[in-house]
Amino acid sequence: MNETTRRPHGIVVDHLSKSFGSVAAVRDVSLTIETGEIVALLGPNGAGKTTTIDMILGLSRPDKGTVTLFGTTPANAVLAGHVGGMLQTGSPPQYLNVRELITMVASLYPHPLDVDHVLEMTGTAEIATRSTTKLSGGQTQRVRFAVALVADPDLLVLDEPTAAIDVEGRRDFWNIMRSVVAGGKTVIFATHYLEEADAYADRIVLMARGRVVADGPPTEIKAKVGGRVIRATLSEVSAEELMTIEGVAKAERQGEGITLSCSDSATSDRVLRELLTRYPAARDFEVHGVGLEEAFLVLTADNEDSAVSGTDDANPELDGPGFER
Ligand SMILES: Nc1ncnc2c1ncn2[C@@H]1O[C@H](COP(=O)(O)OP(=O)(O)O)[C@@H](O)[C@H]1O
Ligand SMILES: [Mg+2]
Repeated sequence: MNETTRRPHGIVVDHLSKSFGSVAAVRDVSLTIETGEIVALLGPNGAGKTTTIDMILGLSRPDKGTVTLFGTTPANAVLAGHVGGMLQTGSPPQYLNVRELITMVASLYPHPLDVDHVLEMTGTAEIATRSTTKLSGGQTQRVRFAVALVADPDLLVLDEPTAAIDVEGRRDFWNIMRSVVAGGKTVIFATHYLEEADAYADRIVLMARGRVVADGPPTEIKAKVGGRVIRATLSEVSAEELMTIEGVAKAERQGEGITLSCSDSATSDRVLRELLTRYPAARDFEVHGVGLEEAFLVLTADNEDSAVSGTDDANPELDGPGFER
């Protein structure tokens, strides 16, 4: 045991690594999460979020490093009912209705919450008698959340809990989560939506290619990855002149086209207005988000990490849907 694991921290992830064959899924990840923190693991598909979460839950064994939950091993903490997990894969058992499922799970733990209370809190009371196979995407996720919650765990670990549900369902889910954890539970959730991490976490741990590339309050992380790019057609104005528009971080010209980079959407809105006022001839406007993957490339460009980027070209899913406008 080293110095870190002896401190009274909620969750200590210490130099964790895990490979699958030649894929280094998680590379030397260290994290300390205090009791009561709500932490988002943010990263594009393939960043290593699920692999990290599986090791935190004791579902898979690290190649290197350790995880300590409330001073003990993941397996012990889970057995004692201190940890509730909502995994990315798997579905509730069939042939049960919602209430029966939650009741069954409750029976596995030493100090479960009252089942009716859990149904009420998670917005599943009105579907309590419905079969678990007859639920919408949003309802399924609320039931899975109820399953994670019924043991009254101190730590909730949620792997992309809203991935399959629509925007409204997502908002409902997070509102329920926030009200449930207001009592001081620790939460770790994985997401590839910057907006979601920003709105519901106290802290964002940004992962890319198995590493933590940034860790801090949402405002700080947003400034790093929330950039916006404006494109337009505008001739006879130099990049230097465009740089004088307040909020333009970078200006480039390619033929008739100009590209202006801004730190966030509020700034790009202001820049766009100023651009129109100054140069009425400007046309063909396009504004788009930088995207997680692009932002990660920038963030990781100047460390030794970029040496492994060759493995990423084949992944078509690295499009950061959280940045769609
Ligand atoms: N069981 C597995 N076998 C082989 N490769 C895996 C396995 N699980 C994950 N990987 C690989 O590890 C990397 C990280 O995956 P994962 O942790 O699922 O990322 P995320 O949850 O951030 O999308 C990816 O390149 C993925 O393809
Ligand atoms: Mg995942």
